[in-house]
Amino acid sequence: MKITVIGTGYVGLVSGTCFAEIGHTVTCVDIDESKVAMMRRGESPIFEPGLNDLLERNIKAERLTFSTGLESVKDSKSIFLAVGTPSGDDGSANLSYLFQAAEDVAKNISDDAIIVIKSTVPIGTCEKVKEIVAKNTNKKFHIVNNPEFLKEGSAIEDFMRPDRVVIGHNDPEAANAMEELYEPLVKQGNPIYMMSNLSAEMTKYAANCFLATKISFINDIARLCDTLGADINEVRQGISSDRRIGSHFLYPGPGYGGSCFPKDVKALIYTAKEHGHTLRVVESTEDVNDEQKLYMATKIKKHYGSNLSGKTFAFWGVAFKANTDDVRESPAIYMAQDLIDAGAKVRFFDPEGGPNFMKAVGEKYHKSIEEVSNKYDCLSGCDAMVTVTEWREFSTPDFSEISARLNEKVIFDARNLFKTQKVLDEGFTYYAIGKKI
Ligand code: UDX
Repeated sequence: MKITVIGTGYVGLVSGTCFAEIGHTVTCVDIDESKVAMMRRGESPIFEPGLNDLLERNIKAERLTFSTGLESVKDSKSIFLAVGTPSGDDGSANLSYLFQAAEDVAKNISDDAIIVIKSTVPIGTCEKVKEIVAKNTNKKFHIVNNPEFLKEGSAIEDFMRPDRVVIGHNDPEAANAMEELYEPLVKQGNPIYMMSNLSAEMTKYAANCFLATKISFINDIARLCDTLGADINEVRQGISSDRRIGSHFLYPGPGYGGSCFPKDVKALIYTAKEHGHTLRVVESTEDVNDEQKLYMATKIKKHYGSNLSGKTFAFWGVAFKANTDDVRESPAIYMAQDLIDAGAKVRFFDPEGGPNFMKAVGEKYHKSIEEVSNKYDCLSGCDAMVTVTEWREFSTPDFSEISARLNEKVIFDARNLFKTQKVLDEGFTYYAIGKKI
């Protein structure tokens, strides 16, 4: 099948590359010329394990091309819209990129084109896109919703072996084409769910809000464990062995970040309000997360007092999670800003996220933040170490090296990376999230 993908963010670039990998002819379109030039050279503009290899192989095989224009739309059976839908100030999703893309695509399609909305869009958007397309073409077209559930850091694996594929449609012809497209990815028997456009749009938000809720729930319980002296790891194991609860997304930490959960939680709350509903559970999920991002900073202030002048903290990790260079809504941003506002300085090491972090944290903070290119050098002259991202290389460190570098032997472990007894045996003062210490 000939496919055009509009937008080369995580979802667009990974989808396009993976479709090429399974044999389709794909053109990925982006308005950013420097990004397109980079991708044409086989270099991914984002850090995603395995993506560079796939890019290179499929460009070489001439199955994958990149463009800043829409020439490929005319010959494409499916056109995927994977542009960003960022949060507006009020929490609503900004659909201007999507609507513009729909208009531009409509002017270039051939008869029977399938326009697939891959971006996460508020419930009801499909109808609006249909109107825009109809206004801008006299060709016959189909509109499909196909939300994407891939996770950064394991995006290729998630795309190639999805737990399920969700297709929202209201005509069987488009549904059949989508089924054919995804069939090779669900060979292990995972389902393709066909449903209405509205249900598909809702499914994506409900999934992300539910997962965010699991995280806020466990963070809330972890805080209570801190107060009462129970241990969250023991409690987590105790509850997650019940298959109705499950073991995923129950790891306490510095709060969820990234490009999806914070934005989608806000957007669903906004949609509900627009229609006279209050999503009380989801609103609480967001409240708990906002507090959680500063929970470790609060512990730091309890330890040192609220004036942190003269203190320097070493952050291990600033990406919103491991295996990505993405720092969007990373708890590290809020923690660093909070500590610096209280007078402290921050040194940090992150295997991939450094440059993005400096941009995201804001120029005002630059004079108080220093990036260091090695995790142990990062500790030198610091008063304490703070683990913020769970990169694998952080999980079994050389504690004698840590104690040799730090001014004082204090660790604030916002990811619960270390074994409590080991850290205590090494003579550190240890703070974590909900662990009995
Ligand atoms: C998420 C969804 O998982 C994915 O299905 C959707 O398509 C996009 O949004 P992503 O943002 O890449 O994916 O990251 P994810 O692995 O889901 O983690 C999100 C956040 O939750 C991270 O900040 C992570 O550190 C945090 N998290 C996750 C926890 O704090 N505890 C957990 O147990 C799991």
